[in-house]
Amino acid sequence: MTTECFRKLYRPLSIGLVAASCILAGSAASSAQTKPTPNRQLASPELNARVEALLKKMTLEEKVGQLAQFAAGYATGPGASNLRYDDLVAKGQLGSMLNVVGAEATNHYQHIAMEKTRLRIPILFGQDVIHGHRTTFPIPLAIAASWDPEAAELVARYGAKEARADGIPWVFSPMVDIARDPRWGRIIESAGEDPYLGSAMARAWVKGYQQDDLSKPDSVAVSVKHFAAYGAAIAGRDYNAVEMGEATLRQVYLKPYQAAVEAGAATVMSSFNSINGVPATANPFTLTQILRKEWGFDGFVVSDWGAVSELKNHSIGDGPTVARKALEAGVDMDMEGNLFGTVIADQVRAGKIPEGVVDEAVRRILRVKFALGLFEHPYVEQGPVYDATPERRAAARKVAEETFVLLKNDPVEGVGTILPLTKKAAKVALIGPMADNQKEMLGAWAVTGDPKFAITLKTALSERLGDRLLYAPGCGLLAGEDANVLKAVSFTGGTASAASLPVPDDAKTIEEAVLTAKAADVAILALGEPTDWFEGEAGSRVHLGFTGNQEKLLEAVVGTGKPVILVVLAGRPLELKWAAGHVPAILEAWSPGVEAGHAVADVLFGDVNPSGKLPASFPRAVGQEPLYYAQLPTGRPAHGDLSHMPHNAGEKFMSRYVDEENSALFAFGWGLSYTRFSYTKPTVNRAEVPVREVLASGSKSVVTVGVDVTNTGSVAGTEVVQLYIRNTAASVEQPVRELKGFARVTLAAGETKHVEFPLGFNELSFYNAESKETVEPTTYDIWVGGSSLATSEASVTVVE
Ligand code: NOJ
Repeated sequence: MTTECFRKLYRPLSIGLVAASCILAGSAASSAQTKPTPNRQLASPELNARVEALLKKMTLEEKVGQLAQFAAGYATGPGASNLRYDDLVAKGQLGSMLNVVGAEATNHYQHIAMEKTRLRIPILFGQDVIHGHRTTFPIPLAIAASWDPEAAELVARYGAKEARADGIPWVFSPMVDIARDPRWGRIIESAGEDPYLGSAMARAWVKGYQQDDLSKPDSVAVSVKHFAAYGAAIAGRDYNAVEMGEATLRQVYLKPYQAAVEAGAATVMSSFNSINGVPATANPFTLTQILRKEWGFDGFVVSDWGAVSELKNHSIGDGPTVARKALEAGVDMDMEGNLFGTVIADQVRAGKIPEGVVDEAVRRILRVKFALGLFEHPYVEQGPVYDATPERRAAARKVAEETFVLLKNDPVEGVGTILPLTKKAAKVALIGPMADNQKEMLGAWAVTGDPKFAITLKTALSERLGDRLLYAPGCGLLAGEDANVLKAVSFTGGTASAASLPVPDDAKTIEEAVLTAKAADVAILALGEPTDWFEGEAGSRVHLGFTGNQEKLLEAVVGTGKPVILVVLAGRPLELKWAAGHVPAILEAWSPGVEAGHAVADVLFGDVNPSGKLPASFPRAVGQEPLYYAQLPTGRPAHGDLSHMPHNAGEKFMSRYVDEENSALFAFGWGLSYTRFSYTKPTVNRAEVPVREVLASGSKSVVTVGVDVTNTGSVAGTEVVQLYIRNTAASVEQPVRELKGFARVTLAAGETKHVEFPLGFNELSFYNAESKETVEPTTYDIWVGGSSLATSEASVTVVE
């Protein structure tokens, strides 16, 4: 990435008397009226003429070969095959491979495909590039916390360049599943709970990877995953079924996939879950009706790992039957499944599957191979050995700094607010199992990231403090014998020989940590949960607290009476109730990537003013999950603080818990700064709009909401200004609040800026009882502020 490109991607948004550019970009989404052609390259007549010419020459076996994909490298799922890949490639029985990384490995297979097969069709190599490839950036959930689509675009650009240099022109990213339940470990890969924020991020990822031109030598094709509604797994248990009404499916869960497809996504990955009883990998409604007919998708659909053959476990047929169902529903490529390659051709020959169905799948795959320029440039040159250069580190640090969310920063008696640290603290105690753990800084799905490049908090703080930094690990991430499990398992399982390792004595190390805290002026606790096993795929949890003895460690250090700063390093919203009640300063730092330590230190010391905002609600108790701000209304809404319930008898028979408040501990959109921001009451440029005008507006604006935002503190800062609406009188009930605009606004101390948000059909529409996207006469309440709790209010009425 050149410095110029870096600067361009980071140009400050010019917000003055004009609308925020990211909001306008966010609005340029769907138009319900026109038949879309979201990726012009894939729809181009010249490209399709090449596809047809090649297709005509192919035998049935060669066609079916294009539908098969295998992992010839490491496994990122269960039951990996161990086939003779050289032979399969030479026979034209394998059109794509995953997890084959690097020039040597990819060129090896590509040479076979290009030199030994009859038609010389290049192999398409795919790989999970989730938050950077070699250079590990913060996890996607963290990037969403920046509320900066340009940050996602930048991370995608680095990922694309590095992946392409490693022979990989196709990435299994972005993951755009709405995640409203942090028990689900894959929330780390998502943009959190909201469809508007998720759609903005989805567009940015696609743009960064594909650059609107797949033929560029440093563009990669994306695979938008996991289609569809994978994030709504019942009870947050991975791979579980999904049940939801069509209106919610379309209005909430499908929106980010739609945004990604409209941004030109070349491929889509079908998901493991079923939706209302129909598995997503054999679901003609989502894969054909919605994806292709309604959204105009011209690329191809790859199944998730083994998802075609796992349809047998969904009890919808035997191997040949489920393969036919998946193919006919709209899955074009079978990932690590071994079914398409073995049972489709026979069924075509037997007349059970029309050959035209196979032809269509092949067409879609060949389109992407042609668009990527693989026929002209099938190989990759061996580049220099990867190094985390200063330029790459600078990019990773800058992005990480934007992602941190200051959850709490209360004054401490005699000290004032502890953050930023500045020079107040003569001696700082750094404590916790996350304080000096390189691997954990990278986070889940850092598939090709190397922990040796990661800067820990201990490294970064000792650079600043020298011998004024005291350190104690405090305890392990897991307790007792479990503590050794992480040494014995890998992403795909591993053997549990951990029992033979000595069990660590946390009681002793916690005592040492207490002594360390007592010797310092302030203690920084770096706590979280382990990445391996506890986060990402198959990382569902029913307990959302810190793992192992970390909570005990926290309580013991708080018990010393020293001021404590808690830095949370985790890939999901954890349950932080005790900490929120007892610790004065809490910084959510997620899994920050290769520059973790430097970025955290920059924020702790005030060189960077925190600006992140939560992309997902943090619960008071796990029992609240799934917890999200955009709840549908109830006939018996609870009022006010219910924590002293027995004294609040008027609240009997209301929609609430008897033992906990309904609200989030930290709400969606929440995040503090080292300065303060004030808002004027929002205004609308017109109080009434005719419904026909809104219906015809598509992505255009019909009403503008304006607000003045002032930095009332004494240091510069960036505020994420958020706009929420409520449709108060629709034919079907609508959420109590929905995000419909946001802008990152940087303000010098004392400075005021005017921010405008355009609203049109895309922002005001909803899905009615017939699942049709529409707008009806109604009044919209509108709030603008710094979180989903914003109170500053206006309204606009849509009239007949
Ligand atoms: C399974 C995961 O669900 C998916 O996200 C990933 O892309 C594939 N495995 C390939 O590793």
